[in-house]
Amino acid sequence: MSAAEPGPDDPSTATATSQVRPAVDQEWRSGRAARIGIVGLGTILGQYLDTFERAQGAQVVAVADLDQARAADVATRTGARALTVPELVDDGEVDVVLNLTVPAAHAEVAQAALAAGKAVYGEKPLAATGEQARALLQAAAAAGLPTGGAPDTVLGTGVQTARAVIDEGTIGVPVAANATFAAPGHERWHPNPDFYYLPGGGPLMDMGPYYLTALVTLLGGVTSVIGAASTSAPERVIGSGPRAGERIGVQVATHVTGVLTHTGGALSTIVMSFDSVATQAPQIEVHGTAGSLSVPDPNRFDGPVRLRTAGADQWQEVAPSAGYLEAGRGVGLLDLVRTPAGQDGRASGALAAHVLEVMEAVLGSAEQGREVPISTRTSRPAPVPLTRI
Ligand SMILES: NC(=O)c1ccc[n+]([C@@H]2O[C@H](COP(=O)([O-])OP(=O)(O)OC[C@H]3O[C@@H](n4cnc5c(N)ncnc54)[C@H](O)[C@@H]3O)[C@@H](O)[C@H]2O)c1
Repeated sequence: MSAAEPGPDDPSTATATSQVRPAVDQEWRSGRAARIGIVGLGTILGQYLDTFERAQGAQVVAVADLDQARAADVATRTGARALTVPELVDDGEVDVVLNLTVPAAHAEVAQAALAAGKAVYGEKPLAATGEQARALLQAAAAAGLPTGGAPDTVLGTGVQTARAVIDEGTIGVPVAANATFAAPGHERWHPNPDFYYLPGGGPLMDMGPYYLTALVTLLGGVTSVIGAASTSAPERVIGSGPRAGERIGVQVATHVTGVLTHTGGALSTIVMSFDSVATQAPQIEVHGTAGSLSVPDPNRFDGPVRLRTAGADQWQEVAPSAGYLEAGRGVGLLDLVRTPAGQDGRASGALAAHVLEVMEAVLGSAEQGREVPISTRTSRPAPVPLTRI
């Protein structure tokens, strides 16, 4: 393998938690629909419910939220039982806890679920800190339980088709990638945007998982990073909903840039910003010795993949050749359910923990003014053949 090829999908490079482990009883992974208990019933919930309604493999049986009226309302709409959080994680009917709480609560809810013997799948980031994520993976490994987490958008036809083009060698040896998310902050549209500006939030922790998980899927794991970051204002103003006009404090960097070195030597340049009015920059491009690839929005499951090979005078669109078709949020949990007991799904906790370490390292590098090495090693998840969800 030449110096700049994507990292190998070699199990020996996987983190311990993504390796085969002794399986506890997980008969829900071998046929019948897994029974899902959802904790956290806010803005993103509807997208998960829509996916589970359209696909086989997951049945929502219980729901819980700090706001019990919200849980009662969702129970009425879905036919699931409304429980408290402790009741839900202990419930004998629940196989998997789906954790859709805010980032600051991700680790606590996931740890409670693992302690009760439940598999967990959660929204991004896996935890608010890398330390919490490592503890979570250790607890899961000790219990013989799988963990998984968003983003699962990379399992759709967009990023998977782009990966197939790279893996077929069409752009030659990948040398570099650029990834840009640049927008005003989510406080313009989210009714309760406080968490975006608390530790565990910010443009990198919030949007970075999509872009970085896509870059790892395309180019392999990351071995070191350099970062620089800034904060444009100490407060933001909520733009919609009952709290419109309210000021909220900013405790995180709101413009983050970085350079990631991938395991094979390719360099990715990232810009993640809540400090831009608008952008025309492509979301992700990958450049190789024989061609360039335009990758669609990694916050979506599909979108056009465009290729321009050396010598060609224009871009050509690549037909979807890999990935889950008509996918929606939750397909990563379905992928986990369909994976044999003893293994993680493609949207694994180990991959999410690697991405979280990379994000923390970019912010740490920005603070310290030096390159930061990455300690976790992850293999690229297996490619997804063109499959209906
Ligand atoms: N909103 C989006 O468009 C979007 C998109 C993708 C991913 N996400 C991710 O989804 C997660 C949730 O985001 P959201 O926008 O739905 O947030 P939200 O604030 O709308 O909803 C979060 C819900 O979790 C509940 N909650 C918080 N802590 C809890 C705890 N300890 N126990 C039980 N319930 C608790 C809250 O009461 C609330 O109902 C976040 O990790 C976010 O990054 C959000």
